[in-house]
Amino acid sequence: MCTLLPGPVEIGGVRLKNHLLLAAGILGSTGASLARILRSGAGGVVTKSIGPRPMEGHPGPCLVVVDGGVVNAMGLPNPSADFINELTAVRGEPVVVSVFGGAPEEFASVAEWFRDVAAGFELNLSCPHAEGYGASLGSDPDLVEECTRAVRSLGVPTWVKLTPNVTDIATIGAAAERGGADAIVAINTVKAMRISTSLRRPVLGNRFGGLSGSAIFPIAVRCVYDLYEACSIPIIGCGGVSSADNVLEMMMAGASAVEIGSAVLADIGIFGRIAGELYASDGADAREIVGCAHG
Ligand code: FUM
Repeated sequence: MCTLLPGPVEIGGVRLKNHLLLAAGILGSTGASLARILRSGAGGVVTKSIGPRPMEGHPGPCLVVVDGGVVNAMGLPNPSADFINELTAVRGEPVVVSVFGGAPEEFASVAEWFRDVAAGFELNLSCPHAEGYGASLGSDPDLVEECTRAVRSLGVPTWVKLTPNVTDIATIGAAAERGGADAIVAINTVKAMRISTSLRRPVLGNRFGGLSGSAIFPIAVRCVYDLYEACSIPIIGCGGVSSADNVLEMMMAGASAVEIGSAVLADIGIFGRIAGELYASDGADAREIVGCAHG
């Protein structure tokens, strides 16, 4: 396995301590947990998705562990504008605020609350199980372009997190780029469900949810590879990453940085562990690795 040179990097307008970020939705609801992940070796963190009004989320069960991952249907629970209080603990750190809304104007209103404290925004245009939000907008290239433009007009680096639950993810990535996105994040969870054979009913309260974890890693690699062929802005790989070798594979597909989510549930020290294996003073320049599997 090759190694990379350590040190800070700027990806999609955000200065990160290294190439590894906490993905949205995992330990991102409090300033204390975000600070803990940063101390543990992450180069940056993405918060839980914040929306235009407080939401309790879907009825439980909201999560089921499956082979190779987790299926969740949290339903975007969030405290809305009050989340600003959590960010005091991580002021000045590379904190990307994940935002969602039901229309371009709602995305912009939510982002506006965090304009002065966010290092960047990540637009959740990809949650697969929240009617009227996430992938409901994120499957339509015109809406993706409009939402991106509305938030980017605030002057803060704007990343767009894409859904894999579309026929052609590259079309959606190109729409984000047209809207002015500074980077694309690929991918959010893959639509999935389990049924209890004893209860003869879906396991999750919402019936279906989104699969994350190592089971979706090959899907994420393929999406990053396709986006790299179609787009010119940086891509941040996300989906089932759990090792330094996975990080390199994502980068070879075309990712300039990588988000880690579900693997944190099994190992809270995963950022330090991966960074310890990934970086060495005689390592390669990441620019030699990003996209090297193409051509
Ligand atoms: O329901 C949730 O909070 C998950 C969001 C997502 O998958 O983007």
